[in-house]
This record gives sequence, C-alpha cells and structure tokens, in this order.
Amino acid sequence: MKDVTDISSYDSTNLVFYVNGKRVEEKDVDPKMTLATYLRDKLKLTGTKIGCNEGGCGACTIMISHVENGEIKHFSANSCLMPVCGVFGKAVTTVEGIGSVAKNRLHPVQERLAKAHGSQCGFCTPGFVMAMYALLRNNPNPSVKDINLGLQGNLCRCTGYRPILEAFYSFAVDESGTLKVSEENGCGMGENCCKLKKQETPGYTGGDRKRKIQLSDLSDCKPYDPTQELIFPPELKLHGFETKSFAYDHHHTKWYQPVEYGDLLSLKRDLPHARLISGNSELAIELKFRFIDLPAVINPRQVRELHARHLEDLGVYMGTGMSLTDMDDYAVQLIKELPKEKTGVLRHVHEMLHWFAGIHVRNVASVAGNIATASPISDLNPIWMASNAQVVLDSDARGEKRVHIDEKFFLGYRKTVIQQDEIIKAVVVPLTGENEHFAAYKQAQRREDDIAIVTGAFLVKLNPKTLIVENIRISYGGMAPTTKLALNTMEKLKGEKWSQEFLDKTLGLLSEELKLPAGVPGGMSQYRLSLALSFFFKFFLEVSKKLNLTEIQFVDCDVKIGQDVPETLYATQLYQEVSASQAAHDPLGRPIKHVSGDKHTTGEAVYCDDINVADCLHIALVLSPIAHGTLNSIDYTAAMMLDGVIGYLDAQDVTTGAQMGHHSDTPVFVKEKITFHGQPVAAIVATDHELARKAASLVKLDYSVEKPIVTIKQALEAESFVFKHFVIHSSLNDNKQVIKNDWSKYERIVEGSIDMGGQEHFYLETQQCIVIPHEDDELEIIISNQCVNDVQIEVAKCLGMAQHKIQTKVKRIGGGFGGKESTGAILAVPASLAAKKYGKPIKIKFERFDDMAITGTRHPFTLQYKLAVDENGKFIDLDFTALSNSGHTIDLSMGVMQRAMVHADNVYKFANADITGKMCKTHLASNTAFRGFGGPQGMFGTEIMVKHVAEKFGWDHDEIRERNFYQESDCTPFGMHLNQCNVTRTWEECKESSDYCRRLEEVKKFNQENKFRKRGIYLTPTRFGIGFGLKQLNQAGALVLVYTDGSVLVSHGGMEMGQGLHTKILQIAARCLDISIEKVHIHDTSTDKVPNASATAASVGSDMNGLAVQDACRQIMERLAPFKKLNPDGKWEDWVKAAYVERVSLSASGFGIIHHEPVDFFNGKGAELFGYSVYGTACCEVEVDCLTGDHHLLRTDIVMDVGESLNPAIDIGQIEGAFIQGYGLFTMEEIKIRPDGIRLTRGPGNYKIPSADDAPRHFNVSLLGNSSNKMGIFSSKAIGEPPLFLGSCAFFAIREAVRAYRIQNGHTDYFAFHSPSTPERIRMACEDFVTSHVPALPEEGSYTPWTSSV
Ligand SMILES: Cc1cc2nc3c(=O)[nH]c(=O)nc-3n(C[C@H](O)[C@H](O)[C@H](O)COP(=O)(O)OP(=O)(O)OC[C@H]3O[C@@H](n4cnc5c(N)ncnc54)[C@H](O)[C@@H]3O)c2cc1C
Ligand code: FES
Ligand code: FES
Repeated sequence: MKDVTDISSYDSTNLVFYVNGKRVEEKDVDPKMTLATYLRDKLKLTGTKIGCNEGGCGACTIMISHVENGEIKHFSANSCLMPVCGVFGKAVTTVEGIGSVAKNRLHPVQERLAKAHGSQCGFCTPGFVMAMYALLRNNPNPSVKDINLGLQGNLCRCTGYRPILEAFYSFAVDESGTLKVSEENGCGMGENCCKLKKQETPGYTGGDRKRKIQLSDLSDCKPYDPTQELIFPPELKLHGFETKSFAYDHHHTKWYQPVEYGDLLSLKRDLPHARLISGNSELAIELKFRFIDLPAVINPRQVRELHARHLEDLGVYMGTGMSLTDMDDYAVQLIKELPKEKTGVLRHVHEMLHWFAGIHVRNVASVAGNIATASPISDLNPIWMASNAQVVLDSDARGEKRVHIDEKFFLGYRKTVIQQDEIIKAVVVPLTGENEHFAAYKQAQRREDDIAIVTGAFLVKLNPKTLIVENIRISYGGMAPTTKLALNTMEKLKGEKWSQEFLDKTLGLLSEELKLPAGVPGGMSQYRLSLALSFFFKFFLEVSKKLNLTEIQFVDCDVKIGQDVPETLYATQLYQEVSASQAAHDPLGRPIKHVSGDKHTTGEAVYCDDINVADCLHIALVLSPIAHGTLNSIDYTAAMMLDGVIGYLDAQDVTTGAQMGHHSDTPVFVKEKITFHGQPVAAIVATDHELARKAASLVKLDYSVEKPIVTIKQALEAESFVFKHFVIHSSLNDNKQVIKNDWSKYERIVEGSIDMGGQEHFYLETQQCIVIPHEDDELEIIISNQCVNDVQIEVAKCLGMAQHKIQTKVKRIGGGFGGKESTGAILAVPASLAAKKYGKPIKIKFERFDDMAITGTRHPFTLQYKLAVDENGKFIDLDFTALSNSGHTIDLSMGVMQRAMVHADNVYKFANADITGKMCKTHLASNTAFRGFGGPQGMFGTEIMVKHVAEKFGWDHDEIRERNFYQESDCTPFGMHLNQCNVTRTWEECKESSDYCRRLEEVKKFNQENKFRKRGIYLTPTRFGIGFGLKQLNQAGALVLVYTDGSVLVSHGGMEMGQGLHTKILQIAARCLDISIEKVHIHDTSTDKVPNASATAASVGSDMNGLAVQDACRQIMERLAPFKKLNPDGKWEDWVKAAYVERVSLSASGFGIIHHEPVDFFNGKGAELFGYSVYGTACCEVEVDCLTGDHHLLRTDIVMDVGESLNPAIDIGQIEGAFIQGYGLFTMEEIKIRPDGIRLTRGPGNYKIPSADDAPRHFNVSLLGNSSNKMGIFSSKAIGEPPLFLGSCAFFAIREAVRAYRIQNGHTDYFAFHSPSTPERIRMACEDFVTSHVPALPEEGSYTPWTSSV
C-alpha cells in the first residue's frame, strides 16, 4: 500500500513558483509562513504592504495565476492569508512586477491612479493597484459593477475613495461596450466632463482666475493594452505543475498536497489530526493570533474530484475544491439556464456571496472551510439549513455519505458532526420546488466585507389555492452559539394559513423562541431579536407581494433598501485656477499631484518596515491580559526555550523613576500596577518578528485582578480624573468677574446629555520603529511617527541620554491622523533599551491586533448641556459640560479637552456661555490625539443642542442656525474675535449648490410614499480654529541647502503622512526661490537637521513649516540678490555658482511662528487663541432601511473655505478624506470594550471603517471662491482637520430619516440619538410593531452587559 505520509513519494518536494516572471525554488521555508511575509522578508519585495495580517484591509493584495482545465486563470488574493506553500506551481504578480518609476514605466492602472490623486499616504495603494490589475487581467473591459466588486476588501483611510474610483472607473465600459474614458468622449464624467463642457465654469469671483469643475482629466492617459502584460511562466504550463503532487517537510510542519482523491482520503486516515487547508482564510487567523500548533497540513485544492459540479435530482452538486468565487460563477450560470422558480436558493446564495467577505477572500476561501468552522455568524450556513442542503462527507474507513445541514449538524459552538478522518467533498444545494419561496437576508455593521450580526434564511411551501403552509423552514445565524433552526416556530406554523394573523403569530413565536439574555455573548440582544423578526417580516411581505395578496397590510411597500451601489460616479471638485499671469514655472496654487504619488502606486515608496538593517534583532511586547490589577511575577521559562530567542526586557531594565509621556506618568513596562488591558509588561528579543511574538505569547504572568473603572459614568462616581477641571466663562471677556445669570427667569430651556464614542485611528501602516546603535553611544531611530522631537526627548529621558546623541528620522508614514503623535515612545523606548542592552539594531512592529490594544483612540465624550433660548430662537445662555474618557494617563487629554471646549460654540453666537471640561481617568489605554483633537466632540454636542431646541419648540433647525450664526468680528466664549468670518458664505453656497431646498421637499415626498424606507437630508456647518493650544508648539524650523549645481535640498520639521505636506513645501520653496519645483527635493524629516520640531499636527504643518521654509528662502534670495543684479540675464544656476565663488553661504535655517494667545482654562478667561478659523458646510442625503438599521449615503456636497489654496488637489483630497473619516466616526466605527476593560475591537474583522462601497457616488466638493486669509502663508488656510466634523452631517441626515419613521409611528418628541449611528442604534430608535415584540432590558446593574458604553 502506498505510504501517502512519505514525503519522498510526491512529485515535488521543493517549493517551486514564480514571482513577477522569476523562478523561485525554496527548500527551507516554514509552510506556515504567509506569502506576504515571504515576499517582503525573503524576496525583499516590500511593495506588498501588511496592514492587518487578517485579510481585512487589502494592503497585501497580489495576483495569482495558475492553470485550470488547460486555461490560465488569474485571481486576486490576500497574501497575508495565503500560505507560501499554497502557491506551489503558480505565478505570483506583485506591484513591483507591473510598473516602476525607476524604470520610467508605469502600468496604466498606476498612471491613472497617480494622476487622479488617488493616493495620500500611499500605504493602501499597492493593494488597490493589484486589485484593479487582477480584475483587468481577467476582464479587460470591466463594467463599473465589476470594478466595485474588484475593490471589495481594499480599505483606504486617507482619500475617501472618490479619486480611486474615478481613476479605476476610467477603465470601465458602458453597456454598449464603449470605453468610458477616451479622447473622444472625455473622462467618464458624462456631460460634466470638462472637455465636453468647457474647461471651466463661470467664476464666482472676478479677475482672471477661473473656476474649474474637475481636478483630473484622464482622457490623455495611455490606453490599457492587455497584450503587453507579463506572460504566464511557460515552465509551469509545460511541466503540468497543476497536476503534480507536492509535499514539503520543514522542521515541525509537514505540508501535503496530493492530486489523487484516494491519496487525500488516505492522508486523512493516516493523519486524522492534520488540518485541511483550503482557502486558509480561517486557519490563517488561528495561526497568527492563537499560535496553534500545526504539525501536518493537507491542501486538497488540486484534487480534481473536489472541483466537480453538476445538476442532480436532489439539487446542485458543488465540489468543495471550488473557491467561493467559482461557486458563485456556477450559481450564476445555473440561474441563467434554469427556470426562475427553481433557482430561489441559488439566487440567494449568489446575493449572499456578494456580501460575504471581500472578493480577494472569496477567490480563495471554500464553502468547506465555512461549514467546518461552524461559526454561529456564518453567512451561508443559515441558507444551507433553511434550504435543507446536504454535505457530502467522505472517509477512507466509512466511505461517502450525505448529511443534511440541519439542527443535528452543528453540535455546539464551532463544532459539527464531521469526524476527524472525514473530508467535506461537496455541498448539494436544493433547487426550489413548485410553490416554494426562499429568501435570505444579512445585516452587518458595515454593508460590505463584514461578517453578519444576524443572517436569516426562510423557505416556505404554500398551497397555491388555500395558502396553507405545507412546509416552512426558518434559520438564523447570530441568534445562538450555532446556526439555529427555529424548530418550535416551524412546528407551530405548519398547516396555518398565510395571512395577516399568520404574521402576528410568527412574530410572537419567533420572539419567544429566539429571545436572547441581556448579557449574551456578542451583545446587542434587543437588536439581534429585532433583526430576526424584521427579516421574517421582509420575507412575509416579499412572498405576499409575489402572490399578489392585496389584503396583506403593507404588501405594496418596498422593504428593500437600494443595496446596489449606483453605477455612476457623479463627482465634481470646484476650485479656482491660478491667475493667467502667474509664471509657468511657479507651482503655487496649482493642483499638482502628490510628490510621491507615482511611487505609491508602484510600491517604491519606502516605509519604516521596508527598511532592512543587517544583523537586526526583533522585539515583541508582552501585554497585560487584564485592565486593572497587580502584577506579582513574570515567568519567561517557556519563551526562553524557543530556538532564536535572545532575551527579554521588563521594568527591571528601566532606570528607577523613568517614565514616558509629556507628564512622565506612563511606565515603560508594568512594574506593579496594571492599569489597562494591553499594557506592555515586558518585551521578548528574538531573531525574527514572528518568533518574538510567539515567545511573547508563552510568557506567563501571575497577577491579581481588581475591578476597573471603564466608563465616564464610573469615573464620575469614583471622582477619578487625570487632571483638574477646566472652565471658560464668556462673561470674563467683558467683565472682571464671572456673571452667573438667573436661569429661573428663562422661559425656554432645553437640557440633555449625549454620548459620542471614540474612534480607532486605523492608519493603514501600524506603528513601527528601528533603533540602530552607533559609536559614542549614539542611537539612530527610524520610526513611523508624527513627532521626531518627542521620540528623541522620550528616549533621552528614559535612557538618561543627551538628546544630541539621538537622531530620529522619518521618511514618510502610512497615515497617522494623530495616532502617531505622542505614542512613538511606546515603541522607541523599549527598542532603544534593547539596542543598548544587546548592542544590536532592533526592530519593533506592532501587529494591528496589538496596535489597537496598546495605543489609545479618539476620546469618547459625554456632553451635557443646558441651553436657554429667547422667543426668536436666539441662544441666550449656555451651560455646557464636556466629559472625556481619557484612559489611564494624561497623554494629550488636556489639549483635547481644551479644543473640545473652544469648539462647543461651533458657528453660533451665545450671549453667555459657561463651559466646563472634565477629564475622566479610566483603566483604558490612554486616549490620544485624533484629527480634530476634541473639536468634533465639542461641536457634536452643540449640533445636538440645536436639534433639541428645534424639536422641542417645533422650529425649523436651519432657521435656528441662521439666526444664531456668528457674524464678522463676533467674539467667541473663549475670547477670540472672528475676522474674515465665512460661516454664512459657506452655508449659503452649500445650500444653493446642493439644491437643498428642492431636495428637502423631495425627501419629504419620498418619506410620505415609503413606509419602511426613509430618507433624510441635512446641512451641517463647521468652524475650526487653527493653531496648537500650547504656545511653544506654534513654532517651526527649516533648513534650506543650495548646492553648486543649483539643486536645492529642503528640510523642515514636518512629517509626510499622506497629507501632501512635502508637496506643498516644495511648491512654497519653488515660489520663494523663483525656480521650478523639479530643482527642489526633500529627503526626510530628521532631528539632526531641524531641532525641536513640533509634532505634525493641529493642521498647521504647511502653515508653520511653510513659514520657516519661506524665511530660509528669503535669506538665500537676499544673498543672491547682488549676483542677480550683476547678471540680470543669467539663470538660477549662474547666480548660485557666482555666490559660491564669492564665498557666500548657500544654506540658511529658517524659523516661523504662528499666532497664539493663551486662554486661562483654570479661571476661564478667554484670549485671541487662534490666528484664524476655517469654515465649511456639508449637505448629506441618506436612505435608511428602518427595518434593519442599514443606511446608504446617497449624496454629499461640501463647500469649504481654504483661503487661497496652496494646492487644490491636495486640499480637496484632504476634504474628501476627512469627510469620510468623520462619516465613519459618526456612523459606523464602534469601539467595543467589555465591562472588565477587555478591548474587543482589535482589527478590521470587528472594527469597521468605511469602505469604497460606503463612499457616496454623488460627491461634490467646492473650495469657497474669493477667500483670502491674511493670517496664513500665501493667504492659504490649513485643511487637515477642519472638514472632519462635516462627517457628522451624515449622522444628522440619518437622524432625520429615523425621526420621519418615528413620527409616522406616533413618536414626535425629541429623542437622544447617540453617536455613532450604528445599524443597532438606528433600528432600535425606529420603534415600531416589530420592536414592540422585543422584551425590555432588565434593570441596569441586574446583569453584566456584553460591552460597556465607555
Ligand atoms: C477577512 C475575512 C472576512 C470574512 N468574512 C466572512 C463573511 O462575511 N461571512 C462568513 O460566513 N465568513 C467569513 N469569513 C470566514 C471565512 O472566510 C470563511 O469561513 C471561509 O469560507 C473559510 O474557508 P477557507 O477555505 O478559507 O477555510 P480554511 O481556513 O482553509 O479552513 C477552515 C477550517 O475548515 C477546515 N476545512 C477546510 N477544508 C475542508 C474540507 N474540504 N473538509 C473538511 N474540513 C475542511 C479546515 O481544516 C479548518 O479547520 C471571513 C474571513 C476573513 C479572513
Ligand atoms: S494585510 Fe492582508 S488584508 Fe490586511
Ligand atoms: S492613501 Fe489609502 S490609506 Fe493612505
């Protein structure tokens, strides 16, 4: 008998595959290593990025090509999920393989993406490029729908997606097969294309500065020519690698890849404990995060029998060797071929697969993996159960059998009846029979690429004459520890008549059978039950409609929310061109693309983790598994036994008393007291990253647990604060003493409280750092951070070194958004300690899973308010208290609170205002800076107040706003006079350009006509003060070096994190030196060039650093002036050379400060805090499915005042990106923390940022014309943070839609609607006959909820 476990009996025992046309033969690699790690670490192809290592971000997307049935097939995949052995005999294409800036050859995908300004930090960009590239390789003429599908699974945190979609839609063909972008028909903008229309729209401004309606025109890009692509490696085809068996033996793991079906069964017989690996999308997570042992793996994918598919009497037979994409394709083929009534189940399998993970996961994942995993929230298992599908199981011992996927199939949480020696060979999906109706529904936190909260699948067989239920099957995912059949309900419904009473009875039965305890794992007990009932109601209406049962209530109502994204992108970007008289070489004010844009698209842009340092060791942190307690001891024994582990560090290695943070209140490692879950306790030093992580997981901590303070409410009760309270009293602006008004005299008062959740930064590049020790005790630190200065100071302080021995530098970072402002020390200090201790370079990189636990988030806030208004709705008095959840240390909580307080007025004049800020100390990671820095939280409270007033007194909220808008020179409660105040201008312009008034009427009409779908439209204004809250931070330095060939090197204190700062600085330098931009270069940001630089934050990067560069350039120009005068016809190079010959210095350091006056937050006395404010207004329209809580952002219009834009492309990119980030904050991003302080949201799997599908397909951004800022460099305004709050406009539009539903159901009062407006919050606010079946929660305190509202 053949010994299938004998490795040498396989055709190949070496791993052979191709990467970018080059052969790779690997004899010594751990089969568990992911392809992403292999590409990056072994092949040094660092263009492929790692953002999450769990298949949830798409940064690692590559294309895999192989031979299938004699044909070459291409598919995209997440290389972080793909085991390296999984590509045996296949060809891999990475971003490096398709184009290169160095070789002056960009692929059309890369060229168009860069040209459309589709990258900012660039970290997600290679993934997007490869997703689009893989799509084109399979389908050179994709439709918009295909492109939308192709990008499922790719996240971008910077751009807001509009430019990416615009670039990629340019490859689309319309229904007639015509290319959307070509010389003839313009750029895909339809009739709005600048080429077809006119180059510009009529100006709102005078002079010669025209307004353009679109940033990029792709019509002159080179066409896509599929014949130019890399060929499939002939060796793989000629030598039939797809039919070769392959086995691999590496130390502890053996990989078996049989091709014969019999061998597969024999392997499972001889190695019953061996795991089958199909798509690895489930197993990869277990390997990465649970460190499971995997001595033997069997990959069955190339066994031909597993790819069998056919129609049989019982239904559709689908082999599990197929990927979910293959399965979907087959389902679609059958849907086309078979009579419609037979395809009920298949149609819903197809629909469900659209929402199942992203395309890159579906291209590899199998249905077998899904069934075997037996997740209670699987999207497919409810369909199998309701349709009574079967699985075909096979084993060598017992042969083939068919088993129904029913109530007996799933034995418990993630357990099935499948035996260890069995394989899942196929699923058999039933066709719907005569008079059978089938439907399935899913609701997730995010519409796309998100696992379900609840999935419901329903089958009913009705007697067509009597409407008697002959058979009914109701199945749910997300309602129990296993997929659940509602057996009791089903039993009682058989024989009943399909009628209105039937619905009532079913809802009653289901609510009884599916009731969830209040503290159920996964939480959301009421919402999950509401969803289960709503899904049935939808099914009931759909079937009734199909049967034309007019007597059924609501039968004519549409219960489907437009789930398909519209197939057009209507987006305009209105900006002012530079004056016609501006010199051609002067780049200022022009929409030039990001200076690294091309390199982002080719993967040639280098990030911290892309840097390889010889002889480098790696560290991984050991983290606290509890939120509060005492550490008794640490046992490193098991960790130290692993080969390659060098040592460890803990509190013993830190000088006594040395602590991190601006307030020196953050221990490097826990010494005794544990103060948050995820707190660093120790670090393991090892020869590679994965080994260090594994060893860290083996460290045993002995600790005692104490009750943590987690929420703001608990902190208030315990009087736990990080610092004393702050106050602002507007009365001190005109008086020496605080004037307290008599509130009993006011006739109209609203009083309330609203919660706003935090937000995870989710920069695509996690935090990373390399420390290299040099002679004389010097340390070179390369870090992904927004503040090189802070890192230098913290390392110097904790290691007792002088700052001049530490050089900290940053080339670029893959997004920061504030999350990399004050957190660098958490990596840099342990890494520096290790570098000193072991005398070797040290690298540390956070996995997303750890990054989200160790570093804090945007501060959650509770905002309490009492507002008095007069009979005209004018705001006469305000008492406002902002409470923040600061976490365990101060970090930046003081600054964040102060900014919240000085934005609590937003754009409104309050006759009197008393504002208080309290910073609660809790056992959470220290919450920190995040774009907006407290401003959005303050403004959110204000805007809620406005709604509350309007709803309580029955006023129009827009009129209330307009009556209270700040006017020119008005003074804020914190003592700042608003000059060049453009609140009203942006408001009016947005109102007009969005056609708000007409659309508001349309929305009202829509809401009258639709019972369960409601729309909301809303206008939201914003004001954002520019400058750091702390005086000394409002300064910047720069160094400008001119070389004898005329080339110029500029260094400044700001970091390039995607916001285009270096691009703007190059524009400023070129303008100041009067040379073309090509002559100017920026290397990196480093403490040895510019000392004491403030963090790149507070939106002032280009304001401050620009001023410093301007100052340095001015000095150089002054020194060159005599040489210009002597040689007026000469050029720049001549004057530079002449100056050099005459021994005139050609370098200058520049310095710049921006306006600041300190507010006295201890006594509440205001000041002219900021130099200026940025204003903007957004208009959003949404549609809400009131039965599920789903929503869809239909359209967004933004008018933003950026003064005279330094670069409209970058400014518009910032506006779009900030808006979508704000939209995520206010509508879907929810941090989940258990009552014991354990953080649940630690990756893209359970924390959802907006995806491309969420971006509005109608998205207009306009830069306010004729605005000039006398306080900003070249009359510009800062832009990074100000638009973020406009994302709340979508929240308020959702609230309007919910309100319309509530009013329809008789709930007319103001209702507190907390942020974010998750599907759960939306649905539970939409009180109706369904929610009336949901039992109320027991009294607070009588049970432990799954999560706490922090
Ligand atoms: C980013 C991401 C998004 C996801 N989204 C969704 C979602 O929306 N909905 C959803 O339901 N799931 C989702 N999942 C879960 C997962 O992708 C699916 O369960 C997938 O179908 C698993 O298939 P696989 O082939 O990758 O399994 P693998 O990881 O290869 O295997 C999983 C398990 O199945 C076993 N197995 C594999 N093949 C066989 C076989 N032929 N016979 C017996 N046992 C076998 C393995 O031994 C292993 O125990 C997601 C996963 C990721 C990473
Ligand atoms: S790194 Fe692979 S999907 Fe995020
Ligand atoms: S550009 Fe997409 S994440 Fe930064």
